[in-house]
Amino acid sequence: MKTYELSGKGLDHLKIVTREKPSPKKGEVLIRMRAASLNYRDLMIAKGVYRREVCYPLIPLSDGAGEIESVGEGVSGFIQGDRVMGSFFPFFFDGLVGPETDRRALGGDLDGVLSEYVILGSESVVKIPSGWSFEEASTLPCAALTAWNALYGGIPLLPGQTVLVLGTGGVSMYAALFARMGGARVMATSRSREKLLKMRAFGVEDLIDTSTSPDWDDQVHALTLGRGVDHVVDVLGGESFNRSLRAVRVGGQVSVIGVLSGTAGNVDTALILGKAIGVRGIYVGNRRQLEEMSRALEHGSHRPAIDGVFSFSEAREALMALDQGAHFGKIVIRV
Ligand SMILES: NC(=O)c1ccc[n+]([C@@H]2O[C@H](COP(=O)([O-])OP(=O)(O)OC[C@H]3O[C@@H](n4cnc5c(N)ncnc54)[C@H](OP(=O)(O)O)[C@@H]3O)[C@@H](O)[C@H]2O)c1
Repeated sequence: MKTYELSGKGLDHLKIVTREKPSPKKGEVLIRMRAASLNYRDLMIAKGVYRREVCYPLIPLSDGAGEIESVGEGVSGFIQGDRVMGSFFPFFFDGLVGPETDRRALGGDLDGVLSEYVILGSESVVKIPSGWSFEEASTLPCAALTAWNALYGGIPLLPGQTVLVLGTGGVSMYAALFARMGGARVMATSRSREKLLKMRAFGVEDLIDTSTSPDWDDQVHALTLGRGVDHVVDVLGGESFNRSLRAVRVGGQVSVIGVLSGTAGNVDTALILGKAIGVRGIYVGNRRQLEEMSRALEHGSHRPAIDGVFSFSEAREALMALDQGAHFGKIVIRV
């Protein structure tokens, strides 16, 4: 079978190699992958700037979808031909993330899915929503689940609340989609007017163009008549984190997800206690949440925005496109 291997730090170390096609053992399924999608983490891992070391050679990428080609002994609940996706944390089934689950994620600590065939334990696999293409479903395991966990994994979002998403990447696009599904009002920031207009298709009512209004927290206060939003889905972190603390209402929640504005900052802790803000670090989610989210998407016509679909031989080009940051939503590789 053809598979990608990352043999060192830097995109030059990403190559297609041939490996023997694996066979499923007891409790495992063999998946013929059909599509994989990119997350910012994949780029950091490929460049060698991820916060954790990886072991080389590594099959990259955490997110993919395909169909089961064969099942090992003792597998129940799945048969040949089932359309499935793998769970980001293959050994994290339920409950809260902990030391025993945190260090075992696909495409980082463990081999990932940028391969013609992938073996996973049947307990790590979830059926994709019916009616979804493999390309669409490949965007679910990390970006979508992170957004779902942010909005429903802690204090759940309520209809009529207001959610602020930052930027127009995969996590933010899905956070907007889920917030609208949940009956919330959604505000979005972007450095691009053009991308903001695309967010309207996801039901985003209030658009904040940070190229002309860099003080987006002030804009949020103007739009909410000084109240602030109920929930900020923060993929920026770093130096911009205090803006999230200012944009959220008294007693609101900030989900800490990303590092696009840096990994550290001078955090105004007095604001957190003074406004009694719930600050929750999110690290993707568990298999139960993936199933729950997949069920929620089963009904209705919600679909992600896919900015580009690259062929299997173009994985490096796909990662470079992600690096350029011109995309809206997700970038996918057909396998
Ligand atoms: N904690 C978790 O479990 C988890 C899971 C998934 C992702 N993440 C993290 O969340 C972040 C977003 O991931 P993603 O996959 O959604 O990324 P993505 O698809 O690459 O999108 C990021 C978007 O953020 C905006 N952006 C990028 N750099 C920026 C900057 N310096 N300042 C302001 N805005 C910026 C851009 O939108 P505009 O061009 O519209 O401004 C960009 O499209 C990353 O840091 C990633 O590592 C964390």
